[in-house]
Amino acid sequence: MAPGSSSHNRLLSRRRALHLCLGTAACLSGAVIQRKMPLVVQRRSSVYNNREFVVDGQRALKDRAAAKGILYGAEINHQQLSADSDLAAQFIQECALLVEGGGLKWFLTPSPLRPAPNTFDFTAADWMLRFSQTNQVKMRGHTLVWHQSLPPWFEETVNNRNAEQVMHSHIRTVAGRYRGQMHSWDVVNEAIRVQDGRSDGLRKSPWLEFMGPDYVELAFRITAEMDPNAKLVYNDFGLEFGSRKSDAKRESVLQLLSKLMSKGTPVHALGVQGHLDTTRPINSSKLRNFLADVAALGLEIFITELDVTDRSLPADAATRDRVIAGVYEDFLSIVLDEPRVTTVTTWGLSDRYTWLSEFFPRSDGLPVRPLPLDSDLNRKLAWNAIARAFDNAPSRTII
Ligand code: G3I
Repeated sequence: MAPGSSSHNRLLSRRRALHLCLGTAACLSGAVIQRKMPLVVQRRSSVYNNREFVVDGQRALKDRAAAKGILYGAEINHQQLSADSDLAAQFIQECALLVEGGGLKWFLTPSPLRPAPNTFDFTAADWMLRFSQTNQVKMRGHTLVWHQSLPPWFEETVNNRNAEQVMHSHIRTVAGRYRGQMHSWDVVNEAIRVQDGRSDGLRKSPWLEFMGPDYVELAFRITAEMDPNAKLVYNDFGLEFGSRKSDAKRESVLQLLSKLMSKGTPVHALGVQGHLDTTRPINSSKLRNFLADVAALGLEIFITELDVTDRSLPADAATRDRVIAGVYEDFLSIVLDEPRVTTVTTWGLSDRYTWLSEFFPRSDGLPVRPLPLDSDLNRKLAWNAIARAFDNAPSRTII
């Protein structure tokens, strides 16, 4: 097997994946970390100590990905992009795909899309679309039907008599406005929550409560009618890990997708979010089998919200960066072996702006470092790791 050949690279990928699995499974339980930080830190960083994250820095992430038939992009929001020209320049250089992190949710301050029941404010989303079109970046719409970021008026106004009409008019207005201009839509987001105890695994969300389980199918059908050329995605988190909880979630998501496909529902891709955590081990064979099962349904797979939290890692930035880089490379090596994985989007590009600062801050108060660029917009080892994972990925055709 020739070094550098695709079979050789694949073998390397598998070895790295196994390495990650053994390293994390053996050493990285959250409980242990709190009790014996130094030992765990030593073991954790030793998993990646001998790995050199060296790549040439000539080509941007989007170009390395495109060389393998993969679209690379990142989440960013209107506030950040419109106010930070340095970030905007980096974004255009590195990304071929933009996900508006806020402006297409129903209600997120400071510029909610649905300020009142009969009002839509497209200022932020229109600006983002213009930015993406001006800079030849594709755009993903996130998200049409979700149980979070709903407006304050939702609870008083929406009920089982009008929910279908409310959802219908939302999708008609939003997807209709951008018809033909979006690469894809996250049509339904995070609809599975196995702990809610239903046999179909569906989350007990307001949509389920008001409309019953068929709301998922209906959302896809309406979106397809309004924006027939966009790729329509079911997007969810927690599908990546080796735990029983992840097993159950994967099973429910597969069940949901199989049912949708068997009814001819226009769903085109599964979004695997990829919010990774160094304390949650990945089992590469479970993940590979799951992706193969999804691919066998005829679906594409998008990695939609990739990032790696450093909340349990030691303070030393060099150690954190090395471990984070290793986790990125191992995860991408596994998932990019599946040829139906056609897009990779990180949830942010620079540590300057990440949801993890607000949602999962470090207990020592240090700034978090989960993304490819640091807060000064310099490339980190994570950038190198992602770059190398693209370089080593087998080629595929952009569908
Ligand atoms: O903009 C306001 C700011 O003015 C205010 O000072 C500040 C006070 O907390 O809040 C800011 O708004 C926050 C907003 O993000 C913008 O950063 C909201 O509190 C916060 O709830 C909101 O969180 C977003 C969250 O989804 C809920 O919509 C995160 O940024 C966003 O990264 C996160 O993204 C989700 C995906 O949509 C779905 N998958 C999981 C992922 C991570 O949770």
